[in-house]
Amino acid sequence: MSRIVIVSNRTPGKGPAAGGLAVALRKVLSERDGFWFGWSGKLVDQPGNEARMEDIDGLQVAQLDLAREDHHAYYAGFSNSILWPSFHLRLDLATIESHWYEGYRRVNQQFARALMPLLKPDDIVWVHDYHLIPLASELRQLGARNRIGFYLHIPFPTADALYAIPHHEELMRDLARYDLVGMQAKRDVAAFTEFAEHQAPSTFGGHQAQPIDFSRTEIDAFPIGSDPAAFARLAASPAATKMVHRMKRALGDQCLILGVDRLDYSKGLPQRVEAYEKLLANNARLRRNVHLLQVAPPSRDTIKEYQETSDTLDAMCGHVMGRFAEPDWQPLTYVKRAYGQPSLAGLYRLARVALVTPLRDGMNLVAHEFIGAQDPANPGVLVLSRFAGAAEIFHDALLVNPFDTDETAEALRIALDMPLEERKQRWRSLMDAAEEHNVDDWAINFIERLAPGTARKAGSTRD
Ligand code: F6P
Repeated sequence: MSRIVIVSNRTPGKGPAAGGLAVALRKVLSERDGFWFGWSGKLVDQPGNEARMEDIDGLQVAQLDLAREDHHAYYAGFSNSILWPSFHLRLDLATIESHWYEGYRRVNQQFARALMPLLKPDDIVWVHDYHLIPLASELRQLGARNRIGFYLHIPFPTADALYAIPHHEELMRDLARYDLVGMQAKRDVAAFTEFAEHQAPSTFGGHQAQPIDFSRTEIDAFPIGSDPAAFARLAASPAATKMVHRMKRALGDQCLILGVDRLDYSKGLPQRVEAYEKLLANNARLRRNVHLLQVAPPSRDTIKEYQETSDTLDAMCGHVMGRFAEPDWQPLTYVKRAYGQPSLAGLYRLARVALVTPLRDGMNLVAHEFIGAQDPANPGVLVLSRFAGAAEIFHDALLVNPFDTDETAEALRIALDMPLEERKQRWRSLMDAAEEHNVDDWAINFIERLAPGTARKAGSTRD
C-alpha cells in the first residue's frame, strides 16, 4: 500500500490531539505507513535544509526549522495579511507588501527541498491550506512525479478578490500543478471554476500571459466534518460534566447562549454582540433570563487587524455590560482564552443556543461539534451564518445573514422560545447531516479520489 504524506504549516504536537482534523489525519496515518511534514515551530537565523523525523505519540512527524525573517513574510505577511483577508473577501483589511511574496515562495521552496529526499516514488502527498499553495510546483521542479493533492480549509475568493492578490496568476498556475484540489463547499468550487473558465490574465508590460491549463487538475468539494459520536461521548464524560455543573451553579435558571471562535475578524464577533444587544433591547422579558458566554482564544495577535478586532470587542462587551448589567446580574461573559475539548463539549451540551455567525468561513467545525454534543432529550438550537460552509449541510439550523444584526437578534429570540419538540426535530436532522459528513469519511474520500484504490484497507467494510 502506498504511503501517505500529510503536509501542513503546523504539525500535531505531543499529548491528546486538540481538533477533529488532527484526530482524523492521525487515524489515516495509524492505518498505513507515512508521515506528517511541517514547520517545527522553531525560528532560527540560519535554517538547514533537512527535516528532523520524530516519533510523536506513535506518529512519524518530520519537522523543519524556518528562518525568522522568512517566517514573518510567509506567515504573518503573505499568508495572513494578504491571502487570508482576500479569501475571506476583506480586502479592506489586507495589507499588501509585495516583498512578502518572496518570503512565502522561499518557505515553500524550503519545504520542497526538505521533503523531496524523504519521498518514495509512489507516496501520495496531501498538502493542506493556503500557506502551501506553491508546494506542488516546487516539488515538481525538483522532479516529484507523485500524486499530489491540495485541500483548502478556507473559502475560495470571488474573481475580483483574487485579482487583488499580488502574483495571483502564479498562485493559480501553482494550483494547476496538483492532481486534485479539494474545497470545503460547492460555492468555493463555483468560484474556482468561474476563474478557470473565464480567466482574464493580466497584460503586464504588453505580454499577454498564457491561459492556465487546468485540464490535468480535478476540482471538487469535500466538505470536512467532525466525529459527532466521539463528541457525544466527550460531552457525557466526567470532565465535561464537571464544566456543566460549574456553569449551572453560576447560571441558575438562565439560558446559556454560547459562542466559541478564534479571535478573528472573519468570525463576525462585533456583529454578534450587537445582535445580542438588540435582543436585550427588544425583549425586556429576557433580561436576567439569558446569558451570553463568548469564548475567543487570541489568534495571530502580532497582526494589527487582529489587535483592532480584539479592542473593538472589548469596547462592545463593555458597552453592553454598562447598558444592561445590574448589581446582581450580568448579561455576558467574555473570555479570551482557549479551553480543552472536554470543557467545550460540556459548554456545548449546556447551551440552549449556539451562535455560529462568521461573516465568511470555510466550514466551521464549532457548528459540527455543538451538534454532536447535544443531549437528544433536550437539545439546543444552532443559529448559523449562511456564509459558513456548514450552511450547505445544516439546513435545519436557523440560518442568518450575520451582517443583519436585526435578523440575528430575531433568530436568537426564536431559538430561545422554540418548543422542545421542534428543537428535537431540528437537532435530529442536524445530527444526521453531521454523521453523514463525518471527518473519517472526508479523509478517505479525498485520498480515494486522489489515488483511486488506495484509501481503503483490504477487508474494510466501508463503502
Ligand atoms: O482555518 C484555517 C486555519 O489555518 C486552520 O488550519 C488553523 O487551525 C486555524 O486557521 C488557526 O490558524 P493559525 O495556524 O494561524 O493559528
